[in-house]
Amino acid sequence: MANPLFLLLRGIQTIGLRPTWNGVVHAVRTRWVEAKFADPKRPLRGLPLLLAFLRRIPVPPGAFPPPGPVIATPGPLLSVREEENALHCHFARASVTVQAFASDIIQVSWQPEAGMLREATASLKQAAELRTPLLCCRVSPDGRIAIANASGDTLAEEAAPVSWAAGGEIKGATEERPSYALLRWRVPPNAHFYGLGERAAPLDLRGRVYINWNTDPRTYGPGDDPLYLCVPFLIVLHPDGRHAWGLLLESSARSRFDLGQADPESVGIDLYLPHDPQGQGWGKVSYLLFYAPTVAQLLERFTEVTGRHPLFPRWALGYHQCRWSYYPEERVRRLARDFRETYRVPCDSIHLDIHYMDGYRVFTWDRRRFPDPKRLIADLHGQGFKVVTIVDPGVKADRKYRVFKDGLARGMFCRYPDGRVFIGPVWPGNCAFPDFTDPRVREWWGDLHRDLVEAGVDGIWDDMNEPALFGEDGATIPGPVRHNLDGAGGDHRVAHNLYGLNMARATAEGLARLAPDRRPFVITRSGWTGVQRYAAHWTADNRSDWASLRQTLPMVLNLGLSGIAFTGSDIGGFEGFATGELFTRWLQMSVFFPFCRAHTYLFSPDQEPWSWGEPYLSINREFIRLRYRLLPYLYTALWQCTQTGAPIVRPLLWAFQDDPTTHTLDDEFLCGDALLVAPVLEEGATRRRVYLPAGLWYDFWTDERHEGPAWLEVEAPLERIPVFVRAGAVVPMGPDMDYVSQRPTDPLTLHLYPPAEGQEVVSFLYEDDGETLAYRRGEYRLNRFVLREDGGQVDLTWTVEGAFDPGPRRVEALVHWGGGCEPARLESVVPGRRTIGRG
Ligand code: GLC
Repeated sequence: MANPLFLLLRGIQTIGLRPTWNGVVHAVRTRWVEAKFADPKRPLRGLPLLLAFLRRIPVPPGAFPPPGPVIATPGPLLSVREEENALHCHFARASVTVQAFASDIIQVSWQPEAGMLREATASLKQAAELRTPLLCCRVSPDGRIAIANASGDTLAEEAAPVSWAAGGEIKGATEERPSYALLRWRVPPNAHFYGLGERAAPLDLRGRVYINWNTDPRTYGPGDDPLYLCVPFLIVLHPDGRHAWGLLLESSARSRFDLGQADPESVGIDLYLPHDPQGQGWGKVSYLLFYAPTVAQLLERFTEVTGRHPLFPRWALGYHQCRWSYYPEERVRRLARDFRETYRVPCDSIHLDIHYMDGYRVFTWDRRRFPDPKRLIADLHGQGFKVVTIVDPGVKADRKYRVFKDGLARGMFCRYPDGRVFIGPVWPGNCAFPDFTDPRVREWWGDLHRDLVEAGVDGIWDDMNEPALFGEDGATIPGPVRHNLDGAGGDHRVAHNLYGLNMARATAEGLARLAPDRRPFVITRSGWTGVQRYAAHWTADNRSDWASLRQTLPMVLNLGLSGIAFTGSDIGGFEGFATGELFTRWLQMSVFFPFCRAHTYLFSPDQEPWSWGEPYLSINREFIRLRYRLLPYLYTALWQCTQTGAPIVRPLLWAFQDDPTTHTLDDEFLCGDALLVAPVLEEGATRRRVYLPAGLWYDFWTDERHEGPAWLEVEAPLERIPVFVRAGAVVPMGPDMDYVSQRPTDPLTLHLYPPAEGQEVVSFLYEDDGETLAYRRGEYRLNRFVLREDGGQVDLTWTVEGAFDPGPRRVEALVHWGGGCEPARLESVVPGRRTIGRG
């Protein structure tokens, strides 16, 4: 933990004296209520409370003490009951149900027996087996789980049976009275690990410990853990790329994944089991096992279970501009003019950070700064901008404020076990916190967006929803505070990780109700498994330095491998002072990310594409323009993600899993099916090494052809980053535009990259109106292109499906022959088959 004096001074500098004081009070109060309600049925009072409180003083929020001694293992296997697709095994001290959800997805649910005392009489010596057409799941007589393929080869197995351990201790203070469940899986020493949500770590997560407890780190750099959005889903890739398996923990309580740190041949999972006498099913451990030959197939199955992104409005793929904060109204208008007139840089959306609100009261406007939001937004719409406003979960505890009054009257806020409303400090001062895990509260919250929607706001940015409170690092709602948990009931130790997910859900569902035919656009800072169903995400408060730029890519890659694909980072970095070079390099990478937004800190200078003058302005403008020309391609990648869960930004192993070099490669990436992007991540660099996996590749800028696998040394002056196109691809591109709905995609240019000899490659272009839900009623158009190499000629077959009519437009094709030949232009191409010869 950072030095408390430093934290105090930093707090005073960032948020002021009074909020900092509120934070100190919150830290003390957290310990007090955690001591008082350690057993909510028997709250402590008097001297015992004081002593328990004093013991808790050194315990930081979100602490995760190592588990105490093991108190139970399943013991010997006593009986097995088989059902169709399920197996129930009774052990002396626990029972397990193994159930096949599908031939490649198996759920394992352990439940300790009450008292854990049953002793073995006649135990079974043979493993029990559950077979699916693809897998065999074995439960050994001592309780170890293993999965094997249909021919009996073991794919994954436990090194030890599940066990339950006593609660851990931190500096003499027992963390409540919970226990832990411990899982130990055996892995090859060089297996690779991916997923786990948002991690400031390399792509391959091996060799470290990761905690699942959503946390606002204030600001972070490489190695800091945990961050805002955890997902307890781990992908294990066999070292030779032969197959992959995944484990999704079905618990929202804190957990710790040791990925080969303590033992390179094991994955250790410690799951916290909070003792909640008002909750049910204590001690249950449940997880899903996924198996697939490839990571891509695994993710398809994972997102089938946990959900996929909806098709966001097309403008969400435009360039976004933000800072903490643009105000007053005149500043916002000037920003809009700067984009459209002064600097002519394309942009789709302006984000309003917390200063638009009246004293940070959510769902209000500061009328001195923004006297007429409706008119301002209408004018911005007239210039082609969308407006996104930030919304925080904390509702100012102010009896004159309608949201607070209403929420209080209707019982919408989280409460202590004794029924008092929990109050804690954040931007507006002391706040109450809606219990988003309650469906009633979600509906209420969703409806609160009405005024914003009626003012014309186009998207909502849910922030601080870990939830983060003021005070020490990791400050949040205290553990004993109660939550509805969709009727199941529980306390914050179980609800914490679900808070951001449910806020995003409330927001997205509210926007969908308020504007039924418009696609909601929500970005959320926090989340959990499945948050992709409701929102996009950004990697929040990083730093304006090269290490943070370098860190961003693996973060985005692992988020994508956790189901959360619509992501990006604050371009230029959040805290600190970006240089022109850093901003440009960051932007050049981010134009290939789904969420492309520049944002910066309260005390940083403006971070706009023109802030550093030339040559940066021209380069930044060119790259943002390139993004706009690539919109048909990027929108297709987004559509594909909604269909299969395939992230838009993918590690190279996604498509080249049998090539071990790709397993740890995290300074280049695939954007969609066709592009390989190698951003420049080092200060002063004007060239970089790029790995091209097997196959034929075209240099995007020069059409030069390269045969992989190969390491190349590629020129990367400030105005360029290495980009390559996979042979056989058809890359659809549109005209230049200032914002996505400025003009139709006319002309549509199909960039054809001939495949290697004898090969045939399929590409897609997905189109619809970009804004409404008409696509769900068949109003879309899916263009399918097959490019075939045929004795030195290329053969293009273009077929279309769906009822959407893109209107009259010109479609041209540009054939990139490479090898020093000029690209050949075909003036007007129509669906059907066409053979194109050289020359
Ligand atoms: C949080 C957000 C950041 C935002 C700031 C003020 O730190 O992560 O993006 O600018 O709050 O709202």
